[in-house]
Amino acid sequence: MTLRLSVIGTGYLGATHAACMAELGFEVIGVEIDPAKVEILQSGRVPFYEPGLPEVLARNIDAGRLRFTTSMAEVAAADIHFICVGTPQQTGASAADLSQVFGSIQALAPHLRAGALVVGKSTVPVGTAALIAEQLALTAPAVEVAWNPEFLREGFAVADTLHPDRLVVGVASQQAEELLREVYAPLIDQGVPFLVTDFPTAELVKVAANSFLATRISFINAMAEVCEAAGADIAQLAEAIGYDPRIGNSYLAAGLGFGGGCLPKDIRAFMARAGELGAEEALAFLREVDQINLRQRTHTVNLALAALNGSFAGKNVTVLGAAFKPDSDDVRDSPALAVAAAIQNAGGHVVVHDPKALANAARVYPTLTYVEDVTEALAAAELVLHLTEWPEYRDLDPSKFPPAAKKRHLIDARNRLDPKLWRAAGWTYRALGRPTA
Ligand code: UDX
Repeated sequence: MTLRLSVIGTGYLGATHAACMAELGFEVIGVEIDPAKVEILQSGRVPFYEPGLPEVLARNIDAGRLRFTTSMAEVAAADIHFICVGTPQQTGASAADLSQVFGSIQALAPHLRAGALVVGKSTVPVGTAALIAEQLALTAPAVEVAWNPEFLREGFAVADTLHPDRLVVGVASQQAEELLREVYAPLIDQGVPFLVTDFPTAELVKVAANSFLATRISFINAMAEVCEAAGADIAQLAEAIGYDPRIGNSYLAAGLGFGGGCLPKDIRAFMARAGELGAEEALAFLREVDQINLRQRTHTVNLALAALNGSFAGKNVTVLGAAFKPDSDDVRDSPALAVAAAIQNAGGHVVVHDPKALANAARVYPTLTYVEDVTEALAAAELVLHLTEWPEYRDLDPSKFPPAAKKRHLIDARNRLDPKLWRAAGWTYRALGRPTA
């Protein structure tokens, strides 16, 4: 018999997981507390921008394998329940806010049937799976728990789910392992490595992976700071060290640094949890990783200030990019918006352009000016900051912009634009970590 799955929480992770599990042939029900989201998903649309996901979702809803509801009672028949709710940073603290995780477990417990498996996918502090297992042992004793971290990247969510680098499952029983092997059989058959661990190892794999990625980015940004001081070029340096196969060239793009709903809050929650466990010293370096990352935003604002001779007051500044990275409309902890807001607070007239993220940006920073047409956004700019590397910004032809009365300046905080092109059109060009480029 085909396994029946439920997915609790339908954000970037849950909506993608639900659609992709249905794509593998399972019967899937997604549970979401927000009725507006359920209505959108049930109609075959996706309430955020994720390339390729609308097609997978609509196809599986039409095939009758996938549906969404606000009612937890409707998951009662499912064999496996995937917990995909958010674990944001607590307000005013570094630790993760687990209220959605424990809230969903509490709501789910009365509907679990004997033999069901509850599988956590959300990123949680190590020890959470054991706590959940303890809680469920009291209210739903015939139920198993497993932890199966998710490594998907926004913008590549469907591909990362259907063709992951690896599957990691933390289990406490053979039965849980077997059920998960059954779910992921189509991927295991493709040759995807399937690693079986205990709960704490599975939980730690996720935060360790994100900490490593964040550390690589901050490492190269620290080198960019040294390049600034020494008159060297970070792009050439990164390329040169990346040829060493022991180093490799991914996650070595220097620039404005990392943001989004995962890396920043995950390293902070990891430090907080390590502190609780008495292992604070082991992760002290992550404090530095976080600081280096945040300094890139300050450096960018300072370069902008220098380009405008020390004052933003009354100056027209255009920011290219609002999303935390290209191919996403996610503005959570967006470095681009942090810089835009800082310049506005210092008196600049800031216009923001982004191909997909303007509506989300306007909700978080309602006082910035948002313009949908890139040519219009650039028309009056004395200073342009390239802060999110959407491919279409590389296709801009500065020679086509109308001539300006004043000297115009470009700061490329993602190191992706062509200095020759912009200089030839009369602009000054400056990139982070490349004072001589
Ligand atoms: C990340 C992890 O990659 C993923 O495995 C995990 O499941 C969730 O967190 P995501 O947040 O979607 O995914 O973004 P990612 O593509 O990893 O980029 C994170 C940030 O780092 C972005 O702001 C990006 O602009 C920045 N970045 C990335 C750099 O500044 N330089 C790089 O070389 C790479």
